Parts: sequence; C-alpha cells; structure tokens
Amino acid sequence: MKILVTGGAGFIGSNFVRYILREHPGYKVVNLDKLTYAGNLENLKGVEGNPDYTFVQGDILDAKLITSLLEGTHPATSRQPLTAIINFAAESHVDRSIEDPASFVKTNVLGTQVLLDAARKAWASHPSSLIPHPCFIQVSTDEVYGSLGATGYFTEETSLAPNSPYSASKTGADLMVRAYHETFGFPGIITRCSNNYGPYHFPEKLIPLIITNALEGKPLPVYGDGQNVRDWLHVEDHCSAIDAVLHKGKTGEVYNIGGNNEWKNIDIVNLICDILDSKIPPSPPFSKGGTGGISFRQLITFVKDRPGHDRRYAIDSSKIKKDLGWTPKYTFEQGLKETIDWFLENREWWQGIKSGEYLKYYEKNYMSR
Ligand code: NAD
Ligand code: TYD
Repeated sequence: MKILVTGGAGFIGSNFVRYILREHPGYKVVNLDKLTYAGNLENLKGVEGNPDYTFVQGDILDAKLITSLLEGTHPATSRQPLTAIINFAAESHVDRSIEDPASFVKTNVLGTQVLLDAARKAWASHPSSLIPHPCFIQVSTDEVYGSLGATGYFTEETSLAPNSPYSASKTGADLMVRAYHETFGFPGIITRCSNNYGPYHFPEKLIPLIITNALEGKPLPVYGDGQNVRDWLHVEDHCSAIDAVLHKGKTGEVYNIGGNNEWKNIDIVNLICDILDSKIPPSPPFSKGGTGGISFRQLITFVKDRPGHDRRYAIDSSKIKKDLGWTPKYTFEQGLKETIDWFLENREWWQGIKSGEYLKYYEKNYMSR
C-alpha cells in the first residue's frame, strides 16, 4: 500500500506511522503534517531513516499540495499515486476549542473537506488498475455522540449530539465523509475512538499532564468533582484497530473503537499517584513520592469545571470485533504502568515540550530549509 498519513507528527499519528512500518514492511508511508504546537518530529525519531517513510511539512487545507501527493507528482511519492489516506490531522484539545473554536472549524471541518475533494478528483483521474482499492479513513472520536448518563453505551447508531466546539467540528467532518460517500460513492470510512493514552501523548491531556506535573511537583488539576468518566484505550490498540479497518473495513461504514475501560477521572489521578509513589523514592527533588507516608496524592487540586463538560463516555465496540476480528490487547492497569515508565524514561521529550525547547528544534532543523 501507498498511504498518506495526515497529522503523523502528533500523538496517535506518530504511533500509527511506527506501527504500520513495523507491521507491514514494504508499505510506503508519506506523513503530511503542518507541525502545529502539537506536532513534534521528535515523536518520529528512528523512523526518519526508513526508506519507506517520507515526511512532508504542509497543511491539509492546501489542495494543490494534497493533489500532487495523491497523483504522485510530488517528489515525496516516488512518482506513484497514494491510494489510501488516514486523516489524523486535527486540532484535538477540548479546552483549546473553548478558547478558539474558529481554528477547529478551519482545520477539522474545512481541512477534511479539502482532503476529501482532492482525493475524489485525483482517484477519479486514474485508471482503476492503478488504484484498485482506494480508501479514506477519517479518524474521529466518540465525543461526536455527546454525553451519556450513568448507564448505556455509544453504538454506531447513536445519534450525533456534540457538546464542545471540538466535538462539533469532528462531527462536521464526519458528516462530510458521509456526504461524499452518499453523493459521489467516495470510499470513505469513519472510525470513532475513545480516549487514547500511551507514549508521546502531548502533556496537555489528562494522563500525561498528571504524570508530568507530579514529576515536577506541580498541582494535579482535577476539573469539577472528578467524577466524569472516560473509556480509555491504549494507543497501540487504536493503531491495530485502524490497521484492521484499512485492510478489512467496508467503505461507507462507521466503526466504534473502545477499550471497555471506564474510569472516573479522580480514580485515574489517584492511580497515577499510587504508581508513582511505588516507583520514586522520597528524596529531593521528588519529596512528595515514596513510602514515608507522603504521597503524590497531596498534589491533587480540584479546580473549576470545564464548561459543557461531558459526564460520561463509553463505547460499544462489538461491531469492529465481530466484523473485522479486532480485539484490544492492553488492560488499563498494565498499559498505564508502561506509560508511566515511558514518561520516566523519556523526561527529555516532555521536558522539552513543557519548556518550549522542541519548537526551537523545528526552527533549527526544519523551518530554515
Ligand atoms: P494531536 O493534537 O496530538 O496531533 C494532531 C496532529 O495534526 C499534529 O501533529 C498537528 O501538527 C497536525 N495538524 C494539525 N492541523 C493540521 C493541518 N491543518 N494540516 C496538517 N497537519 C495538521 O492529536 P491526537 O491526539 O494524535 O489525535 C489524532 C486524531 O485522532 C485527531 O483527529 C483526533 O480528533 C482523533 N482522536 C483522538 C483521540 C485522543 O484520545 N487523543 C481520541 C479519539 C480520536
Ligand atoms: P482530556 O484528556 O482533555 O480528554 P477529553 O476532554 O477529550 O476527554 O480530558 C480527559 C478528562 O479529564 C476530561 O473529563 C477532562 C478531565 N481533565 C481534568 O480533570 N484535568 C485536566 O487538567 C485535564 C486536561 C482534563
């Protein structure tokens, strides 16, 4: 396969680029990423030298660039058209969407429509022998379904009821994919995943923020009463699900992806503190850790709730399990322990982000080219 991955320098996209090159040697991957604040080429260290991988800095709103990649006229494609697109590129943080909804509409809605349109035209212009199974996967979120009460699950039939500007913009993108399939017979597939966690998770999201703030001895902010529930999925399990969709998914379909791992936010924060307490001796500069009766839990700080904060997400993923044979491998406890180990072993990575160092890395290595 010759795949265009968009947003491949972000958290899930970079894990996916690694995953696909490892699991499918010989596949060609072009990673198109604008390198916003969330895009980080440090996430792809080790992959850069792979002859099957190419990075292109660019915007999914740039129709001309996308067309040249899909038609195979861009040098990064080795003159071969790209036959699959996996669209990870997005503005992804709910809190930022409350501050600046417009940028979410621009990238998430309009950007997806530009990609869809460029792909529709490029793939139509080639003989079908050159593009036998074109496929566009829109990586969406369970947040498009809105919020659940204490019981029940989101299925693919649940009506769309987004509550934040982020989830509304992802819903707009999903509806465009649906419309292109219905109107043009475009080979779009939508995946809707629950909250991911794992290596290279940008430290503005709950799990990496709590781990790294704890290691820095900073307050651990818990919104509202901490009773909101999320359904957590290890990023590797998300990657294997997208792999299954890429190879076995049916165009026009929606697939929910979840880990069956519902956790209240406060329980996760407590668990992270307890794991850190067991790993870090109570010596400076981490005087809060360890066994001496002092715990990272003392850093927990309840703060003002997020406006429109969805109470509970829970995914029913029986369709992807039954139709495509996918199953998640990680238990949350094991995955979280490994993730905490990763953050302990990769302090330079997150310290660089938190201090803004990684932006200097881009300027030095990429912006000047
Ligand atoms: P992220 O914010 O870590 O990464 C987004 C990437 O997209 C960054 O590398 C950024 O530079 C790039 N990007 C942003 N705007 C762009 C543009 N205009 N053109 C090209 N590249 C652009 O996000 P993530 O957490 O890795 O999420 C990836 C996708 O998965 C998103 O579409 C998100 O909505 C979806 N999703 C995420 C989760 C989660 O828990 N993180 C859950 C379900 C779905
Ligand atoms: P987040 O990681 O931002 O993902 P999402 O909002 O897309 O689910 O937040 C996960 C949950 O954690 C959500 O209920 C909001 C909450 N949260 C906090 O309590 N404190 C924080 O500092 C952050 C970033 C999130």
